[in-house]
Amino acid sequence: MNLKGTKILLLHAFLACVLISGSFAQNARIKVDLDRKIGEIDKKLYGNFVEHLGRCVYGGIYDEGSPLSDDRGFRKDVLEAVKDLNVTITRYPGGNFVSNYHWIDGVGPKDERPPRMELAWARLETNRFGTNEFMEFAREIGTEPYFSVNMGTGTIEEAQQWVEYCNVKEGPFFAELRKKHGYPEPWNIKYWSLGNEMDGFWQMGHLNAEDYAKKAREAAKLMKLTSPDIKLIAAGSSNYRPNADPNEWNATILKELRDVVDYLALHMYVGNPDDNYYNYLSTPLVLEERTKVVKGLIAREMENANRGKRDPIYIAWDEYNSWYRARDAETMAGTRALEEHYNLEDALVIAGFLNVFIRNADIVKMANMAQLVNVIAPIFTNEEGLFIQTIYYPLQLFAQNAHGTSLDVFVDCENYSTDEFFIGLGESITQQDNVPYLDVSASANGDEVIINVVNRHLEKDIETDIISQSGEFSGSVNIFEVNGPSVKALNDFGKTEVKTVEKGTVKAKGEVLTYRFPAHSFTQLHCKIK
Ligand code: AHR
Repeated sequence: MNLKGTKILLLHAFLACVLISGSFAQNARIKVDLDRKIGEIDKKLYGNFVEHLGRCVYGGIYDEGSPLSDDRGFRKDVLEAVKDLNVTITRYPGGNFVSNYHWIDGVGPKDERPPRMELAWARLETNRFGTNEFMEFAREIGTEPYFSVNMGTGTIEEAQQWVEYCNVKEGPFFAELRKKHGYPEPWNIKYWSLGNEMDGFWQMGHLNAEDYAKKAREAAKLMKLTSPDIKLIAAGSSNYRPNADPNEWNATILKELRDVVDYLALHMYVGNPDDNYYNYLSTPLVLEERTKVVKGLIAREMENANRGKRDPIYIAWDEYNSWYRARDAETMAGTRALEEHYNLEDALVIAGFLNVFIRNADIVKMANMAQLVNVIAPIFTNEEGLFIQTIYYPLQLFAQNAHGTSLDVFVDCENYSTDEFFIGLGESITQQDNVPYLDVSASANGDEVIINVVNRHLEKDIETDIISQSGEFSGSVNIFEVNGPSVKALNDFGKTEVKTVEKGTVKAKGEVLTYRFPAHSFTQLHCKIK
């Protein structure tokens, strides 16, 4: 070969190396179009959950006699941290706890309330915190209350009486009882769920779908006759173990209760027991698939429903979180149950869940992180104070900023495939293809556009062109980032490795904003489009 031939060969080899190494790779792209709307984002997507479990109530939000508590027994430091989280709706009092809870035990003079064996999580329940204490807490933090009735060992009559106690102004026995207890005005609780996880064999008083639907329908009848404006939530699927049939459960419940209820509750917990970061980061997409399946089931039932002018049934993901470390016999019982210590990768999974809720804002109208304090929670206390867990930060950014209309964004970036893996404890196996490294949602509120981006890549920053298809970006774009030194980084008492950092501002060039999303990060961009 002559010299010219050798040079051409070398040039080709160089170009091939450059292409393979990706130096000329195109930027990832996110396209935002204000006309491509998914639906209104319900503020109830930023809900939470307080269960009588471990130290969520006692030693968490309520700590009688602690120097950190006010004269009602509420931990003042917890109140502050909860207020900053903008918790829009709070589910109470369970969870598995509610399926053997008799609300009457938790009202009236505290010293006369009966202590009970708490069978779901193996504790002594003193009942010193109950309906009225929770409602005072809810008013203090400015959250909408959402109560669950006992459809396990409870009766439909007992459910009716609780609604009467809470919502009827005066006259009948239970309304008068509330007044006697020092609360002259009704609490007017609007959201009520008809039991908890009734599809789970672990549930006290577990029923099959037909029996649950019958009981729930009759409870709903009595509750609505007592307080006609309440909204009812049916217990949908929570059991995704290999021998369960969650779609069959949901289909039956929707068919039987399609004229009666306003929401179908779904639950999902994920985890990373095999320490496989990429598998774990894909789990919000499993929640998205489940959402779409249930959306289809709802659409089918709505065709034959007789609901008058009422909205169709919506989905309430009224329990979601990462929960896999505190999940053995020892860590699931007693006063220190379910105390998960979260790291950065957990926070990224939570951001992924929130992105899914926004991307499905037309059908998901409520979501509740489980739970608020200490128990698989964003806030963690001891006798001397508290620290903010990693998962708090993405939830706070969404709750404070992602409102208005959800936009259907176009995303073009590299993808990966997962192995086969277990999504959560006891659940069936999944395998995911085409998991995009960038997980994105966006919302528009007036001319303000919020773009939420998880960069799932463990090592690579991803240079991205964000293209507005509705005119130029105006002014500067504010950037907020949740990240940390590694995906295993965590917070603790006196140590904050993961938090929201305000990264300053960037300027777009006309309709294109180019931004480099750091590896293993969640970024929220606050933009304006002219
Ligand atoms: O949030 C913890 C528990 O998880 C709840 O009590 C139950 O509903 C679910 O199984």
